[in-house]
Amino acid sequence: MEELLKKLIANGNLLFFHQIEEVIDQCEILFITVGTPSLPNGEADLSYVEEAARQIGRWMNEYKAIVIKSTVPVGTGDKINKIIKSELKKRNREISFDLISNPEFLREGKALQDALYPERIVIGCETEKAQKLMKDLYKEINAPILFTTIKDAEMIKYASNAFLATKISFINELARLCDKIGVNVIQVAKGMGLDSRIGPQFLQAGIGYGGSCFPKDIKALLALASAEKIPLQILQAVSDVNETQVQWFMEKVKRALGSLSGKRIAVLGLTFKPQTDDIREATSLKIIHYLIQNNSYITAYDPQGTEHVKKIYPTIHYVKTPLEALKEADAVIIVTDWKEIIEIDWQKAKNILSQPFVFDGRNCLNPSAMLKLGYHYEGVGTPSFDESN
Ligand code: UDX
Repeated sequence: MEELLKKLIANGNLLFFHQIEEVIDQCEILFITVGTPSLPNGEADLSYVEEAARQIGRWMNEYKAIVIKSTVPVGTGDKINKIIKSELKKRNREISFDLISNPEFLREGKALQDALYPERIVIGCETEKAQKLMKDLYKEINAPILFTTIKDAEMIKYASNAFLATKISFINELARLCDKIGVNVIQVAKGMGLDSRIGPQFLQAGIGYGGSCFPKDIKALLALASAEKIPLQILQAVSDVNETQVQWFMEKVKRALGSLSGKRIAVLGLTFKPQTDDIREATSLKIIHYLIQNNSYITAYDPQGTEHVKKIYPTIHYVKTPLEALKEADAVIIVTDWKEIIEIDWQKAKNILSQPFVFDGRNCLNPSAMLKLGYHYEGVGTPSFDESN
């Protein structure tokens, strides 16, 4: 990203302005990309999108294609349309514009790849002019374009995230059963994933999904469904399973250790996934809370997320290397599957630990290798087994 940004800025292809009216004036296509965080009732907070629309209505002087990239509830397009029209009316201006919904499907840490090589481009618009402009804009990108209504496009974004989260909660709930009856969920997911109708992705069992998108978008879709009195029961269960997955996992930890009180616990990984410093809705926060409630001593390690978590939990102990975290720990909990954590020398680590207990919340270590090294190892839906048998 850094390299590309430098190049674009040097070429004059990327410009920054202090005044919004300058951008509005100079560009025919305007993307609204502001955040839509969750309100306490789960609905998406649209105030930033609405403010952007007001500004556009206030400053536009000729035709604009106004593209909503932010994830917004179905029906937001209509709202934004009205806001822009009302701003224009205040100025006694009649200027034509097109409102377009072009949801983004970028993953954190892979944004550039996902932007340049998307699997599909979804464009919700109502006029041929808008369709042509958007087709032209994306002409260099080799991906199918699906044109829909604005509302359909808005729903596609929510439905896609909801379905991916469903896959995760499905395998996570199944993992709880696998754990109990001696079945390896990793093999189950592998076997299921070979069926192209199911596919192998997003079937990695763990301690739940986090991040800035899945939890927020699922809450927003549930809030919309509830307001419309069409309960989405499957999605509600997806959310419930995710909410309780950490609790289920921590009870396993507690059972194995007898008690957590006074125990020294190494928490490895704080971000919601590797390759980001983002801790929004990260499961690490729930785990730290649980450990504090149970009077454990916590030593936490993360390559990028430490500073953010420090602001929430200033009193726990933070270290700069994974091995420092393991020093005299009674147990290790792996929360994020960072390369730095997977590649720990577990043979050496055993001499540093006070007790060889490893609880792998991301199923990122090899269970039989850990057992051979003499660890008490527990994953998620990977009951103790020896692969050589
Ligand atoms: C997601 C969507 O993938 C992306 O298309 C959308 O635009 C934004 O939301 P992101 O939040 O960056 O992207 O992360 P993603 O890689 O999808 O992972 C989300 C969470 O699910 C992480 O906490 C990850 O650990 C978890 N996950 C993912 C699993 O627990 N199991 C899996 O198999 C996959």
